[in-house]
Amino acid sequence: MGRLSRDKRDVFYRRAKELGYRARSAFKLLQIDGEFDLFGLKCHEQEVDGSARDEGSAKTEMTADDKQRMQRPKLLVKRAVDLCAAPGGWTQVIVERLSSGDGVESYTRDVPKIVAVDLWPMEPLDGVDIIRGDITSLDTARQIIDCFEGGRAELVVCDGAPDVTGLHAFDSYIQHQLLMAAINITTHLLCCGGTFVAKIFRTREVGLMYTQLQLLFEDVQVAKPTASRNASVESFVVCRGFGYGKLGIDKCLDLPLEGGWDEEFSGVGGLREYPGQKVEPSVVPFVSCAKLDGVDSGGFEFLDADKSYPVGVDKAKTVLAPWAPPIQPPYEMAKMKESKSVKS
Ligand SMILES: C[S@@+](CC[C@H](N)C(=O)[O-])C[C@H]1O[C@@H](n2cnc3c(N)ncnc32)[C@H](O)[C@@H]1O
Repeated sequence: MGRLSRDKRDVFYRRAKELGYRARSAFKLLQIDGEFDLFGLKCHEQEVDGSARDEGSAKTEMTADDKQRMQRPKLLVKRAVDLCAAPGGWTQVIVERLSSGDGVESYTRDVPKIVAVDLWPMEPLDGVDIIRGDITSLDTARQIIDCFEGGRAELVVCDGAPDVTGLHAFDSYIQHQLLMAAINITTHLLCCGGTFVAKIFRTREVGLMYTQLQLLFEDVQVAKPTASRNASVESFVVCRGFGYGKLGIDKCLDLPLEGGWDEEFSGVGGLREYPGQKVEPSVVPFVSCAKLDGVDSGGFEFLDADKSYPVGVDKAKTVLAPWAPPIQPPYEMAKMKESKSVKS
């Protein structure tokens, strides 16, 4: 889809440019945060003003597990990792949330540490360490871990997506491999009780992935922000309480980076509670997220990614240029090859 037709059709694309975000996907993270309080800011605000905790509207009835989880102090995010970050829309949201304080007393927050990683080059962002590399490679994984000098982050996010081929089974396999690499790195980076958010494709094997995430995390839910089109198979797993899953903290810290979680490991299905166990698929709560806390939604009460909004009905009277055009887009190589073949 060309830029102009996207401008006409996609209200999130336009709002991203108006608000200075490098990518419309920033709204996905904002909406997930609106529902799950990923950065622990709402919870700390409420502690400061003495009001009750809001765990989001995902559940109406509270189970014994929910009660146990709520008794633990919620982490305020000071260190975060953005895997597969280019062009940097999610990283911008993380920078904003970690530096805003949003009513949180400044003494509760050390100097934030943010690391962003991608295959492609990324425009610099103040206060962010950017690593260029493939998260499925051992070298990149080690580089990210080294950045924390033995420390750990409270939040790891991964919006990674391979270039889709249209062959659904293949695309979904590659997406799972990316997610596996992200989980592996996360076990080296996330602190006990930390949160992991990652893109998943809700295809056939996804129930097995949920089962394995439940081994590592206390609470696994799947979120579909309204900024993500209904037509897209993408959703986001929101995994909270690292180390409080079925495996316990000692077994889930620092999984082998090379993979091979057990002898039978071959992609999804490799992480088990005990050797030889057959991994059965799980069903987890599904949450649709639409809140845009603290962000100007441009006069729309509800922005719908699947709807076409004519230009001019919102503040976007003119077509704006993107904030971070691709630095080294793959199509440039194709253009170069084409011009060489025309000359010769
Ligand atoms: C949907 S984009 C991320 C958008 C980003 N969250 C934002 O808000 O700007 C997916 C990114 O995943 C990256 N990616 C895909 N496979 C990767 C890999 N193996 N290692 C690192 N990055 C990867 C792509 O280069 C692409 O930039």
